[in-house]
Amino acid sequence: MRISIVGGGYVGLVSATCFADLGHSVILIDIDEDKVEAINCGMSPIYERGLMELLSAHVGRNLLATTGYEDLVSTDLTLICVGTPPLPDGSADLSMIESASTLIGNSLEDKEKYHVVAVKSTVSPGTTQNLVMPTVLKHSDKSASKIGFVMNPEFLREGLAVQDFMKPDRIVIGSSDELAGDTVESAYRGIDAPIVRTGLIAAEMIKYASNAFLATKISFSNEIGNVCKKLGIDVYEVMKGVGLDHRITPYFLNAGVGFGGSCFQKDVSALIHFAERMEVTPVLLRSVIEVNEQQPMKIVEILLKNIEYINGKRVAVLGLAFKNDTDDVRESRAVPVIKELVGRGALVAAYDPKANESMREILPEIEYCKSASQALTDADACLVLTEWPEFGDLDKEFELMRSRVIIEGRRILSCKDAEGICW
Ligand code: UDX
Repeated sequence: MRISIVGGGYVGLVSATCFADLGHSVILIDIDEDKVEAINCGMSPIYERGLMELLSAHVGRNLLATTGYEDLVSTDLTLICVGTPPLPDGSADLSMIESASTLIGNSLEDKEKYHVVAVKSTVSPGTTQNLVMPTVLKHSDKSASKIGFVMNPEFLREGLAVQDFMKPDRIVIGSSDELAGDTVESAYRGIDAPIVRTGLIAAEMIKYASNAFLATKISFSNEIGNVCKKLGIDVYEVMKGVGLDHRITPYFLNAGVGFGGSCFQKDVSALIHFAERMEVTPVLLRSVIEVNEQQPMKIVEILLKNIEYINGKRVAVLGLAFKNDTDDVRESRAVPVIKELVGRGALVAAYDPKANESMREILPEIEYCKSASQALTDADACLVLTEWPEFGDLDKEFELMRSRVIIEGRRILSCKDAEGICW
């Protein structure tokens, strides 16, 4: 099949590369000329495990990146993978969806054969039907019999996106008509996973409900963890017993300093905004965000119990990325923690194996160290905020500290005298 993909971010680039690996002929359209040039040279603008190998195997053969839409008309299926960042009120910004739909419509004006447009971007329920369909049909001057529409959400985790694409738990296909859904289903031939065929709006809601439930499991674990902390018991022992219930599963029950990343906060906030527009009061969803916003302060409270006045004290912060194996600091829980420490006059010495430079763009005023040892030297306290496996090997490095106050916001250290945020 000939597939065109609009948007070369981590969803678009991973999808393009994986569809090429499934044997399809793929063109990836992005407005960024530098990104297009890098991809065509086999250089991935993002780090994703396994992506470089796939990219170099297919680019120039059955995968081409371009800034233009002129080749779109020769494809059978177009996937929209542009960003839907949050607006100040929490709703999803759909402007890039609309402009992509317009450009796709214009490209299809002269096409005679049937074409399918599939939305893979995370969009509020009703967007495919009420924005994408009318926009594409209007600008292509075509009737709905000539263009089928699908909503095919992604469930990719940063750092594991190629694995999650090739071995998904399920493939969700919401469609306006059977032929459109069948077309997208055939694009995934070669991937062994349950296929969920449904309507456009239900597919959009499956994506939001999935992310919102994962975020809910984390905030639930953190709230239980905060109670366990008061009881002096280890929340990990509690959630191990909880997670053995087959209806609950052990996954996403790791209490800590909260969830970060570009998706959970954005998607839960968009769902809250959507529910309010539907005149449904999202009590539970609001509490998921509230717990996550308060959780970083729990680790600062524990620090203040150990060091009454942190004004002028050196605090080592190990871990800046929102999770290990990435340099991404979007919504990282390290940001509110560091801001609170700086606000109280602490001297923060930060280290992250990958995310120093990303965080320096947000918080230039703190010290960035080249190693954990450098951050720990003469430190009055240490906070661990990202689950980097290398932190689990730290031991004698803690002897470099001026005072041995070690608090972990992620369960990763092996030293016995560290105190946990919820354990
Ligand atoms: C998430 C969803 O998992 C993915 O399906 C969706 O498509 C995009 O959003 P991602 O944001 O890349 O993926 O990372 P994920 O591994 O889900 O972790 C998100 C955050 O939750 C991280 O900050 C992580 O540290 C935190 N987390 C995760 C917990 O605090 N506890 C857990 O048990 C699991």
